[in-house]
Amino acid sequence: MNLYRVNVGLLVLLVVTLAGAWSLRTDPTRPNWQWMPDMVYSPAYDSFRPNPNFANGQTLQAPPRGTIARGQVVWHSTAAPEDALRAGQELVARVNLQDPATIERGAEVYRVYCQMCHGPQGMGDGTVARRGYPPPPPLPAGKSVEMRDGQLFHILTYGQGSMAPYASQISPPDRWNVIAYVRKLQADARPAAAAPAEATTRGPAAAPGEGTTEAPTEEGAKVPAGAPAGAPADKATGESAAETPPTVGEDKPDRP
Ligand code: HEC
Repeated sequence: MNLYRVNVGLLVLLVVTLAGAWSLRTDPTRPNWQWMPDMVYSPAYDSFRPNPNFANGQTLQAPPRGTIARGQVVWHSTAAPEDALRAGQELVARVNLQDPATIERGAEVYRVYCQMCHGPQGMGDGTVARRGYPPPPPLPAGKSVEMRDGQLFHILTYGQGSMAPYASQISPPDRWNVIAYVRKLQADARPAAAAPAEATTRGPAAAPGEGTTEAPTEEGAKVPAGAPAGAPADKATGESAAETPPTVGEDKPDRP
């Protein structure tokens, strides 16, 4: 074999390769040429890209005014305390508050969004409260025991006093779920906190006669002192947590 020819051949190959590399001069900031990119590049518009097809030039369009999404509950309200009371009268739970799965999900939501302030048992002793945030009232013993489910929903949606609204973080179903868990905390605390029947049988430990039955009510009545004026009115119409099941029952025909 002629070595000279091989060398010339190799040299020509080298020159062609270098010339090719120089002439192609790929842009290092862009991906190389792709063989069959398939569907990597979608012709669809990304949500936040400009879009010449719509008058306002945006891809994401707001729903037309007045449209109601399937399953959406339309209930007009403001953050006002009167509306919190109205919520108690007009809003019914969208979930079965007794359902263990609901309570379990509610516990999860509570751990994420509530526990840092309200504490693991709702006693208002969460980390944030212990570090100086205005301590929340106890959930198992405070006014919220007497509040209707809808009113709790209003508090989670619009906030109350120094508690911020949670509408943007917690979906409406999860707000009902967490209410179910708050109700469970209250139910769990009840035998110790109130249990008038038991206490009466035990005798000396309980306050005299009927006063025992009223004890929780008085305790509840003390709290509204610094609270919105509407609170006593709510107490009048308010149902105790023990009356919650009928509310849930009423809700059923309402559900879409
Ligand atoms: C940043 C701390 C903080 C977080 C987080 C928080 N809360 Fe509160 N919450 C408060 C404070 C403070 C109050 C008392 C507000 C007031 O009336 O001034 C309160 C009040 C309440 C009340 C009314 C109690 C009453 O007796 O008036 C309920 C019910 C309640 N919170 C439930 C929840 C639930 C459920 C969550 C989780 C989704 C939650 N909160 C998250 C601080 C917090």
